[in-house]
Amino acid sequence: FWQDVPLAPPDSIFKLTAAYNTDSYPKKVNLGVGAYRDNDGKPWVLPVVKKATEKLLSDPLYNHEYLPITGLPEFTSAAAKLILGPDSSAIADGRVASAQTISGTGACHLAALFLIKFYGFNGPKHVFLSNPTWVNHHALFKNVGITPVEYPYYDPHTFGLDLQGFKTALENAPPRSVILMHPCAHNPTGVDPTREQWKELAEVIIAKHHYAFFDCAYQGFASGDLDNDAWAVRYFVEKKVPMLVCQSFAKNAGLYGERVGALHIISPGQDTAHRVKSQLSVLQRSEISTPPMHGAKLMALILNDKELFEEWKRDIKTMAHRIISMREELYRLLTEGFETPGSWDHITRQIGMFSFTGLNAAQSQAMNDKAHVYMTTNGRISMAGLNTSNVRYVAESVDKAVRG
Ligand code: LMR
Repeated sequence: FWQDVPLAPPDSIFKLTAAYNTDSYPKKVNLGVGAYRDNDGKPWVLPVVKKATEKLLSDPLYNHEYLPITGLPEFTSAAAKLILGPDSSAIADGRVASAQTISGTGACHLAALFLIKFYGFNGPKHVFLSNPTWVNHHALFKNVGITPVEYPYYDPHTFGLDLQGFKTALENAPPRSVILMHPCAHNPTGVDPTREQWKELAEVIIAKHHYAFFDCAYQGFASGDLDNDAWAVRYFVEKKVPMLVCQSFAKNAGLYGERVGALHIISPGQDTAHRVKSQLSVLQRSEISTPPMHGAKLMALILNDKELFEEWKRDIKTMAHRIISMREELYRLLTEGFETPGSWDHITRQIGMFSFTGLNAAQSQAMNDKAHVYMTTNGRISMAGLNTSNVRYVAESVDKAVRG
């Protein structure tokens, strides 16, 4: 059968990191993967994570036993509170079934498995994804037999939200469709609905009895405030929309390689949540047996200790604010500095880790090939890869790419 194993193309995001790492060009810049860098272009171990690590490892009882199948309870319950709110009625009523997962990707995968097994799709097994979305969403749903279909999201003319297109797609979708949404810091566009727009979207979703599938990979990165960034999720819970939330601590705690995340399925009642959780346990057992421990223990410490939690919030602000200052600087250089043709206000209007620059595929490719500035060909740049030493070079490279 070996001849039937075709060579797969490399991953469109991770191949950029690999190319960057082997490039010897001194001015090279990696704006590909969404991973925070400090102003020296280095990965940043959050000070609070360093503290929690020391605390964890100095515990004489620290060991490497298995976690329960659905994860470390003090992590999953604190994670649920973080996204749903400490006074969430869903938590108080015992309606939330949580499982610790292999970061946000694992949460999406477990959620997709759960849905294909139990959701009772109304017709074809579809998931509605924003156009565009994180490229991996497509693959992970296809893997479990759910076909992605797209809804309009990004308007290339305004570099903003196509609210009308989004709403019309929700209206035209068969009732009880599964709609994947990014509650904050949309990847790859950096374009989020406003609160008023979320309300309008919720109204259609409720009227059509759709199912809200929230993938929350960037809580804290949009506004620098954890509660603010959870607003859409909490609003949908309050409105009793049937829903689940996938949660990642890769970005907001800088725990990329630790793979720490959670899936929270909100049920109509406690008894349902109990049954849902039992099924998550069965699915998880056959997939990964039990989730990894170290990152979950770190996050459990940070989330459950008042002082560490406050320190984490400050670390998040440090990251969010550095990114915002880079947006401002890139915008300033493109407009006043290089007077690059086109309008660039979207750079400061968009939020979170990414900016959808508006560069087309050929221009983006030129950034990679000629300027050694690595970015995906959809025009997305990771703002976290910019710093005070390279932002001018990046702006100059954008200017050259635009002018051809
Ligand atoms: C990204 O979109 O760059 C990140 O979410 C990293 C990844 O896994 O693709």
